[in-house]
Amino acid sequence: MSDKSMDLDKPSSARIYDYFLHGKDNYDVDREAAARIREIWPTVEAGVRYNRDFMGRAVRELSALGVRQFFDIGTGIPTQPNLHQIAQEINPEARVVYVDRDPVVLAHANALMLSTKQGRVTFIDADLTEPESILAAPKLRETLNLGEPVALSLIAVLHFVPDDQDPYKIVHTLMDALPTGSYLVISHITTDFDPEVMERALQTYRASGVFAQSRDREEVAGFFDGYELLDPGVVGVHRWRPGIQPPASHDPEAGCWAGIARKR
Ligand SMILES: C[S@@+](CC[C@H](N)C(=O)[O-])C[C@H]1O[C@@H](n2cnc3c(N)ncnc32)[C@H](O)[C@@H]1O
Repeated sequence: MSDKSMDLDKPSSARIYDYFLHGKDNYDVDREAAARIREIWPTVEAGVRYNRDFMGRAVRELSALGVRQFFDIGTGIPTQPNLHQIAQEINPEARVVYVDRDPVVLAHANALMLSTKQGRVTFIDADLTEPESILAAPKLRETLNLGEPVALSLIAVLHFVPDDQDPYKIVHTLMDALPTGSYLVISHITTDFDPEVMERALQTYRASGVFAQSRDREEVAGFFDGYELLDPGVVGVHRWRPGIQPPASHDPEAGCWAGIARKR
């Protein structure tokens, strides 16, 4: 265990998200914040589910393209299926490195690390805003071969990084450490689809002590600058290659943009 203690007086983004996914790892303070957010954004649970489903589709699509290594930052509290379960079901040799800074996620790291015998999974307790320390963690190179393509996933996490911490530089620092043929997977909260509701929802996050900010489509697309976007580009998270179950017209609109790009 880390020496980080859990601050149960303050909600955490990981535990609020867990609550919206009907998980058990949340406390009164998280449930109260979640209730305030849901009051303003009644379809938040659909939005959270869209993100998890996007993660699954991204892993399946990239596995089909031959990717066997996944580097997932802002992993969240485990929920079925976890990224490594999807990747290793397709390719038992798949290797996965998870990174999160939340002590509850860390407390579940063992559950996250149940790898197949042929593959490998590890967890690094670190902060996305310190990419150099993530890249210097010995467990990263012990688990992933950075000479072979890696899929870096930043799913529903970059909106917790404020502009003054230069999230664009963070993403480029991480991608610069990965070889050609690697992929960048992002989903990101936005007020583009429903400005009034989403701005109030984000204000509620912030008033609860969890910093979160919107970025518009152009700003989210900016994370992919210099890389080659896969079709269909940056779209609502539930519209990224929806497969056999395309969103119905009555489905709530996504509160997130999503895209995947390849490093040439
Ligand atoms: C909304 S959850 C998303 C979980 C998962 N990626 C998914 O989409 O299902 C955001 C996660 O990012 C983590 N997180 C937020 N800011 C972070 C940071 N600066 N460094 C590392 N993890 C962070 C939180 O602890 C939480 O587990």
